[in-house]
Amino acid sequence: MKRADRVTLDARVIEWRRAIHRRPELGFQEFETQALIERELDALGIEHRRAATTGVVAVIHGALPGHTVALRADMDALPIAERSGLPFASEIPDVMHACGHDAHVAMLLGAATLLQAQHADLHGKVVLLFQPAEEGPGGAEPMIAEGALENPRVECAAMLHVDVRLPTGTIGVTPGAVNASADEFSLRIIGRGGHGAYPHTGVDAIVAAAAVVSALQSIVAREIDPLASAVVTIGTIAGGYRNNALADEVVMTGTLRAHDPFVRDALAQRVERAARSVAEGYGARAELDLRRGYPPVVNDSALARTFAPVLARETGVDVVEAAPTMGGEDFAYIAEAVPGLLMRLGVRNEAIGALRSGHSAEFILDEAALTHGVDALVTFALTFGARGALNAAKRNP
Ligand code: NI
Repeated sequence: MKRADRVTLDARVIEWRRAIHRRPELGFQEFETQALIERELDALGIEHRRAATTGVVAVIHGALPGHTVALRADMDALPIAERSGLPFASEIPDVMHACGHDAHVAMLLGAATLLQAQHADLHGKVVLLFQPAEEGPGGAEPMIAEGALENPRVECAAMLHVDVRLPTGTIGVTPGAVNASADEFSLRIIGRGGHGAYPHTGVDAIVAAAAVVSALQSIVAREIDPLASAVVTIGTIAGGYRNNALADEVVMTGTLRAHDPFVRDALAQRVERAARSVAEGYGARAELDLRRGYPPVVNDSALARTFAPVLARETGVDVVEAAPTMGGEDFAYIAEAVPGLLMRLGVRNEAIGALRSGHSAEFILDEAALTHGVDALVTFALTFGARGALNAAKRNP
């Protein structure tokens, strides 16, 4: 592609991003975003089908033999009232692209444009996964269930997530776990009500709950390997009626996070054991309702180690091993199904206020970084479309 054409494409990517930013949509309601994607794919002559209600699966057919690689972008926004002050801020009350998924879609359309333009020289096939509802309830699982990784059968997959921890011009490529599992729980402590002046006649669920909260804090400190990563957070607690009545019940909700599947299972089991035995010690009862959320995202180590030097050489970006986070991300299901790579795209630029983390009402990203994201997606598709990923993955699990 000529330099002038690339400048035009980069401007187009920013236009797409701003158009989507103005019209943010929550999970499984991304109808306008889906329509925009389908319109642009039609204009490019790329075949596509719908999946998971508002998702789109598209396939670019290279003319040369090779492997099938998937590139994934999430599409949904958050229930946040935007306060970024941007001229293209959200026009939808209380809905905002505060996590950069607008940029993810725009970059994938940019990559699709470049790959389709060179399909005569392209090895293998590139599957574009435009995925709804990453912020919940999750669009990756239903897309996989509807065959998004089949016809053609995907051999490896990559995605980008914008990251304000890294400056523009930087891309994080990290082997191993990069995002955590995110399991939710609701814990009910059941006592017996009575008059606050006669505590011996009941079982005070509040005192039992206080002891349970304290006990849960020692799980990570005392029962998990200090070199592993784990979080037990209680986010809400409610119970009781009035100042002089014993609470018969306390309900708390929280989240459990881990990078390692074994630590993940251990956390759930320890929370249940601690809650039950401590509550029992106070004459109360504990009931745990655990809802398993997204698994941890584990980057295929061979894929990451193979790709990092190629990315640096081909695009000139600064490729770094970005630190993992305890956030959740449903690309995890795709990375469980095939060797996967979650890359972090640096979008930090203090000069324009691009420094607040995602999910903030004041979230701003540096659009100058989007060209690097397009390059990274295209380079991934070209590299593994030609050489494949499975052998690399088996060599170095
Ligand atoms: Ni996100």
